[in-house]
Amino acid sequence: MSRPSTASCARISPARRRASASPASRRTERAVLAFTLNGAAAIVDMPETTPLLHALRGPLGLSGPRFGCGAEQCGACVVLLDGRVAYACTLPVSAVAGCSVTTVEGLGTPETPHPLQRAFLGEQAGQCGFCLSGILVAAAALLARDPDPEDAAIRAALDPHLCRCGSHNRIIRAVRRAAAEMRGAA
Ligand code: FES
Ligand code: FES
Repeated sequence: MSRPSTASCARISPARRRASASPASRRTERAVLAFTLNGAAAIVDMPETTPLLHALRGPLGLSGPRFGCGAEQCGACVVLLDGRVAYACTLPVSAVAGCSVTTVEGLGTPETPHPLQRAFLGEQAGQCGFCLSGILVAAAALLARDPDPEDAAIRAALDPHLCRCGSHNRIIRAVRRAAAEMRGAA
């Protein structure tokens, strides 16, 4: 039976997330879960242990977050959970009830792109683009906490993200360019 979730947003460690997702008794338990998605209210009614990525790409109709490995190894699925990076491929949708989720669609629009999106276009930082939605939100989280990151900090923040097209140098240039623009130094 569906029931509304009363859970508040809580940061859940990967180990605890896995433990909370494991009991067979919860595997098929459905829940009505409410959270904020890209600044708007979102509600899903699905099994609690469904990965957030499936909710985003399925009933919520977003194609930005991608499925790469499904095992927290490539970063293609990364979204922001209350401003911090989270792997949507393994995070149970129940863990985001009451939270704010930001995907690449929430950073900017074609008409009013985020400075990072402008910079990535300006630097042609990417080829196929498969990795970029995760990289863009991770870079946005980095610039929110460090407006003038050293290259080492950019590399560290983006290290979990694989880019099979080898665009790494251009990506780092684009993050530097966006940071400068956001500081008003461009
Ligand atoms: S799909 Fe989530 S890290 Fe690869
Ligand atoms: S641009 Fe193709 S995987 Fe990064």
